[in-house]
Amino acid sequence: MPKKKPAVVVTRRLPEAVEARMTELFDTRLNPGDRPMSQAALAEAVRAADVLVPTVTDRIGRKVIAAAGSRLKLIASFSTGVDHIDLAAAHARGITVTNTPGVLTEDTADMTMALILAVPRRLIEGERAVRDGKWTGWSPTWMLGHRIWGKRLGIIGMGRIGRAVARRAAGFGISVHYHNRRRVHPDVEAELKATYWESLDQMLAQMDIVSVNCPHTPATYHLLSARRLRLLKPDAYIVNTSRGEVIDEDVLAEMLRTGAIAGAGLDVFEHEPSVNPKLLRLDNVVLMPHMGSATIEGRQAMGEKVIINIRTFADGHKPPDRVLVTEY
Ligand code: DGY
Repeated sequence: MPKKKPAVVVTRRLPEAVEARMTELFDTRLNPGDRPMSQAALAEAVRAADVLVPTVTDRIGRKVIAAAGSRLKLIASFSTGVDHIDLAAAHARGITVTNTPGVLTEDTADMTMALILAVPRRLIEGERAVRDGKWTGWSPTWMLGHRIWGKRLGIIGMGRIGRAVARRAAGFGISVHYHNRRRVHPDVEAELKATYWESLDQMLAQMDIVSVNCPHTPATYHLLSARRLRLLKPDAYIVNTSRGEVIDEDVLAEMLRTGAIAGAGLDVFEHEPSVNPKLLRLDNVVLMPHMGSATIEGRQAMGEKVIINIRTFADGHKPPDRVLVTEY
């Protein structure tokens, strides 16, 4: 007798091939309209599901988890970050949480590097000027930015993505510095030619470019607080492809406005999808709509990971990408 297929609720549209495979393997409820589900709809969905597949746009907090029926045993998130899920509440209810680590590392590092180039070199401003008909020809003094080569990059969070950024930065002649909860293995430091700073404050004060690559956890919420942001040099740039919550965005916007720092490249925001209106008015900031992992290959691979996690779990084994509360 074939085992009953697990009832899986998917909260957003996923790549076609992923949805097709999920439909074959599981008793899958898709969201063809792709409208993010309300809290009430999520609570309703978890009542009868065995597995929930949320994305970063769903808030799976205490209330949604409390609404879960006894069947819900797995939250297989289509994401690497898990800050949208109340992990403690899930674990307390005996619900396993999985994510999709590793498969969006290179894409996110590419986005980070793109912002590291775009902001100091004013790429978006230049492009806008051409489209707006404001370009009158080459000029010795117009649209000057800052050189990347020879600059110091301070990476906050030397996990997979931080390391992938470090590798790219080296190719651009940038010297790599980092701050991390734990110092990485000396072999990794040597490979990346990375200098460790135990003190984040001291590192910030010395860097030309700062890249946020750590996850958002209670410990990293506003890690770049007003006090820390004010340690940055006035000609420093800041790039964030991790989570908006790591930076005090209001303070950052004000510092960008007053020239207390030179510029910023942000792919993520504190209150997505709303963007702080103060940021929208500034020229020295490049704003991207959370596109770090937005490649066909990456999203496909994320879907494959979700499927493997569900299948392994349904077969009675520990899924490969279990998220442990202690990690966060
Ligand atoms: C994730 O999966 O955490 C990413 O932020 C999505 O781009």
